[in-house]
Amino acid sequence: MSLLSQKHLLGIEFITEEDINLIFETATQFKEVLQRKIKKVPSLRDITIANLFFENSTRTRTSFELAEKRLSADIINFSASASSTKKGETLIDTVNNILAMKVDIIVMRHPNPGAHILLSKHIDAQIINAGDGTHEHPTQALLDAFSMREKIGDLRGKNIAIFGDIKHSRVAISNIYCLQKLGANVRVCGPPTLIPKYMPSLGVEVSYDIEDTLKWCDVANVLRIQLERQDIKYIPSLREYNIAFGIKKEMLDKLNKKIVIMHPGPMNRGVEIDSDVADSDHSIILQQVENGVAIRMAVLYLLAGKGTL
Ligand code: CP
Repeated sequence: MSLLSQKHLLGIEFITEEDINLIFETATQFKEVLQRKIKKVPSLRDITIANLFFENSTRTRTSFELAEKRLSADIINFSASASSTKKGETLIDTVNNILAMKVDIIVMRHPNPGAHILLSKHIDAQIINAGDGTHEHPTQALLDAFSMREKIGDLRGKNIAIFGDIKHSRVAISNIYCLQKLGANVRVCGPPTLIPKYMPSLGVEVSYDIEDTLKWCDVANVLRIQLERQDIKYIPSLREYNIAFGIKKEMLDKLNKKIVIMHPGPMNRGVEIDSDVADSDHSIILQQVENGVAIRMAVLYLLAGKGTL
């Protein structure tokens, strides 16, 4: 039975501040486990997990798989490109066939927003959303907020800016819900064509001024231009996007303070972020990836309803 307020992790929208803090406390303990010579605990040795990826992934997929192995779970990996979904099978039939093999937890990435919510109404297994279209990417938001907290402490009252393609970003939406639940002030910044009109209704500030937003923020979370989701041209060219909205070292050098630079990946170097920013000592991009394993261990452990570590 889940130790979080929800049976599933479908989105940050559905969990509480207490859930987020419990995930962070548990992840802190798992980070300590990951520093040990033997980086493995037997906590989920009675649990079987299926990783269902209907969309490409490097970080999320490997991070979940490693988290599951560190917790001693049995795992099966499913890739849509090599499956019978190509022969016309529905999502619910595919998942029910996998569940017939006695799977306890489904970790799923799917291109359709809300696919996990639909699935949760049809199956008994617990579901973790590893990204659903442009809707949510909850474990990314958790690892982002956890990494920010490690760097700048309690996020209450802190100014966090999210730069780039907000329109197509599930990371932006999950970050907004997560950061607001933790008491941070959130601003989005990018070209007007890539910022949805409903942003202010989420209690988020909107700015089209990159230099002013860099001055305002304690943390800049930079998102990529999602070329694969641009059905029409929202920007004239990648080169012009870089000139107008790319984060450049000169901009950071001009600030009278040190800000934290983050990026969930995959990065388009030279488009939304220049290499000398991504690789600078402002950047915690690889710490985000490292923290992802501990955060995903914590989510799996808590959803599986395990007691003290
Ligand atoms: N951040 C993220 O979701 O990366 P992947 O698409 O590589 O999983």
